[in-house]
Amino acid sequence: MKHIDLAKIKTDAALIGQSVTVCGWVRTSRDSKNVAFAEINDGSELEHIQVVFDKADFSDGELAPLLSLGAAVKVTGTVEKGLKAESVEIRAQRAELLGGCDSTYPLQKKRHTMEYLRTIPHLRVRTNTFNAVFRVRSELSYAVHKYFHKKGYYYVHSPIITGSDCEGAGESFKVTTIGYDKKFNSEDEYYKNDFFGRSAGLTVSGQLEGEVMATALGKIYTFGPTFRAENSNTPRHVAEFWQIEPEVAFADIDDIIAIATDMIKSLIAHLLDNCMKELEFFDARFEKGLIDKLRHVVDSDFARVEYTDAIEILKKSGKTFVYPVDWDEGLQTEHERYLTDEYFKKPVFVVNYPRKIKSFYMKQNADGKTVAATDLLVPGIGEIIGCSEREADYDKLLSEIKSRGMKLSDYDNYLDLRKFGTVPHSGFGLGLERMLMYVTGMSNIRDVIEFPRAKDDLK
Ligand code: 4AD
Ligand code: MG
Repeated sequence: MKHIDLAKIKTDAALIGQSVTVCGWVRTSRDSKNVAFAEINDGSELEHIQVVFDKADFSDGELAPLLSLGAAVKVTGTVEKGLKAESVEIRAQRAELLGGCDSTYPLQKKRHTMEYLRTIPHLRVRTNTFNAVFRVRSELSYAVHKYFHKKGYYYVHSPIITGSDCEGAGESFKVTTIGYDKKFNSEDEYYKNDFFGRSAGLTVSGQLEGEVMATALGKIYTFGPTFRAENSNTPRHVAEFWQIEPEVAFADIDDIIAIATDMIKSLIAHLLDNCMKELEFFDARFEKGLIDKLRHVVDSDFARVEYTDAIEILKKSGKTFVYPVDWDEGLQTEHERYLTDEYFKKPVFVVNYPRKIKSFYMKQNADGKTVAATDLLVPGIGEIIGCSEREADYDKLLSEIKSRGMKLSDYDNYLDLRKFGTVPHSGFGLGLERMLMYVTGMSNIRDVIEFPRAKDDLK
């Protein structure tokens, strides 16, 4: 089955005039009097390669299935210069049908809606759009590892099954091996009989274990799936998403903001260097000006605003919001969008949120009302990063856990980190899919993850 990637055939001038074998799926085809054309793609790059069939060399019966949309073919032929500048095509000498495809194939020529494509997750990746999305997703993931490796971070693996709800939002999926059974008289009895002898769930964040690792290894990051049973059916939420979570010992909130900024810029710079064809595709079809936007992000400073000042900006905006602007209530999506899209018009860190609306582990500021937490909001999307300095003081953390009515025994180990050699430390979580939406211009999060899982939606 020795074949050569399309990407190589297109870029290796030494192959011109040579006989090569390529495999791929037929993406378009055209039949004329003496020749037939098929554009095929093997996934190694966005643009297809044209195969020219000389009808004198192939019988009609042989050719027809090789030209049908979606068919998988193997072609051996000579690489020739194509009509378009720098393009190459293949003049077929031999061709073999690997897998035929009939007219019931759902991806016929016309452009399909994203909603329709979501109903066929097993086939949508064969479209140009999803081919490009998942190539960028792969490249972005690589860039994450490259960035942290270069900066001396260790990649650590936090568990998927956990006993504590890091964000305390009650959104964790249960992990259990026993179903409902009336024989248990109480919740406690039920959990005692369950697999772990206690309640367990899928992790909502790798942070708590990340902190364990950072308070020994110094600088770490996790990069894995996280799960939230969020009931919200929005274009920005899924139940399973990937998070990049660095945790840094001896770093305060300003240090971590600088790290987050540097990382975002570096990831985007990597995509501009390595995914230009895909970015041009998205710029033309999904977000006009995308490439200029990304270049601007790399070249300019991010904004920074105190949460309290952001509330004032919103109050003075003269806008009527569905949700009233209220210091105690936090920012709704519409508020975030006003700040990013209309006021700052660039990524902005909103810093020092009210303690009551944020998670238990965040460093309490001297004012007693706020915590050293920040969200990075970006135009078009809203929050892509949740970030904070962690509370390093044992007593303060303990009283916060108690006052929130959390189960103390779930946080024994976490508290130990403050008992034994505690240090200031900070970290953040970047949602991979939110970042992908930002860099591709795709407006629904379900279109940047291979198999989206959301309320009432699992295919
Ligand atoms: O702001 P969050 O909840 O922060 C944490 O989980 C912290 N423990 C992170 C840390 O400090 N290590 O979530 C972080 C990011 C959000 O900014 C968002 O990008 C993404 O995770 N996110 C989601 N993405 C898709 N679907 C959801 N349901 C998401 N919930 C959060
Ligand atoms: Mg958040």
